[in-house]
Amino acid sequence: MHPDVKEILLNEEQIASRVAELGAQISADYNGEEVIAVCALNGAMPFTCDLVRKMDGNIILDSIGASSYGNSTKSSGEVKITKELKQNVAGRHVLIIDDIFDSGLTLSLLVKLMEERGAKSVKSCVFLEKQISRGVTYRPDYIGYEIPDAFVIGYGLDYAEKYRQLPYIGIIKPEAVK
Ligand code: IMP
Ligand code: MG
Repeated sequence: MHPDVKEILLNEEQIASRVAELGAQISADYNGEEVIAVCALNGAMPFTCDLVRKMDGNIILDSIGASSYGNSTKSSGEVKITKELKQNVAGRHVLIIDDIFDSGLTLSLLVKLMEERGAKSVKSCVFLEKQISRGVTYRPDYIGYEIPDAFVIGYGLDYAEKYRQLPYIGIIKPEAVK
């Protein structure tokens, strides 16, 4: 275990088994129809790689970089695209994949953006959802695990861009947060 981790919340086996379930469920729901799987950079990279390899069907893999600003407790706000998609989503199914649903602002704005671009359908899949009350009414279509309101790292999640490579999800030690 990494010395900056206080406690492991989800280990590699728990992650792998849930990812496999999600992949099977999502594949069944799209039923062979083409879907553009959009990785929300950078946090969703490990989850996306694992998830798409548990999906069958007709998948086009793409990625987007986004940062949201504005009041995170309100559903209004703007999203700044820092890395654009390669695909044109108009008339196509889009599945946005993200690491964690916290305030929900970034993901809800990305969904709205894909809808504005004319996607045929827009769904989302997050690996984690924090059990908090939030301002946005949007809810992801697929959720891996619900977790308590703690700051977690690993499996794509960072603190100051570190720890994304950890193969498990852990709670960071307070003394590692500077
Ligand atoms: P929000 O849902 O718009 O608040 O933003 C979600 C983003 O905040 C995620 O994609 C993560 O990058 C980051 N984030 C939220 N909670 C955590 C956490 O516990 N650890 C690491 N990053 C987090
Ligand atoms: Mg992040």
